[in-house]
Amino acid sequence: MMVELAELPEGFTDWHGRTKVVPSWVAGDSTKPPAEPWPEADLVFTCPPYYDLERYGQAQADISNAPTYDEFLQAYRNALLNAYEALREDRFFVVVVGEIRDRDTGTYRGLVPDTIRICTQLGLHFYNELVLATAIGSLPVRAARYMASARKVGKAHQNVLVFVKGDAAVATEACGPVVTPTVEELLGAKLIEDVATEGAADG
Ligand SMILES: C[S@@+](CC[C@H](N)C(=O)[O-])C[C@H]1O[C@@H](n2cnc3c(N)ncnc32)[C@H](O)[C@@H]1O
Repeated sequence: MMVELAELPEGFTDWHGRTKVVPSWVAGDSTKPPAEPWPEADLVFTCPPYYDLERYGQAQADISNAPTYDEFLQAYRNALLNAYEALREDRFFVVVVGEIRDRDTGTYRGLVPDTIRICTQLGLHFYNELVLATAIGSLPVRAARYMASARKVGKAHQNVLVFVKGDAAVATEACGPVVTPTVEELLGAKLIEDVATEGAADG
């Protein structure tokens, strides 16, 4: 059974106030086929656990608790397959994923190429790859240590892998026009006002 966790209040609009978006949140184990068929999706956008990089709780169903990388990959494949099946034909399928190291050998496991391999085996076509630059934080300090002790580079990015199910031209058409928010819409009018006021006070 699908469990409705929350329904946000109405009033959610896109950047230009044209579309009401009222998400339905569904909790479940994505590696299992859904008890009721999921509604057909126009986009899959997912960010899976990166195997054992972070653990998200004790639940056995949580694939970050998989005993081995191979078992993780099998469960991950099942989740990707279920998402693939829920996606309409001629639509985009996006996976945010990052490389991880084997804790014993320090070598990369190849989670990014494994994701590309699984997705293409499911029948998806690899369409775009974006690099998501992550916050630098204390990395410049830590990176020097990694380089000195093990010749490892400090990593400050993840990969956004874009696949298409079916025809990319039809998928593009289905996206509609590119909508670019203004700076005010992005930051919120109030923030802009505050910045302007602070600027005036400084001057
Ligand atoms: C990298 S986090 C991404 C969370 C969220 N999508 C985001 O971007 O903030 C991976 C999430 O997958 C969840 N997860 C792990 N195994 C799962 C499963 N079998 N079914 C559904 N979610 C699962 C984890 O609990 C965790 O919340």
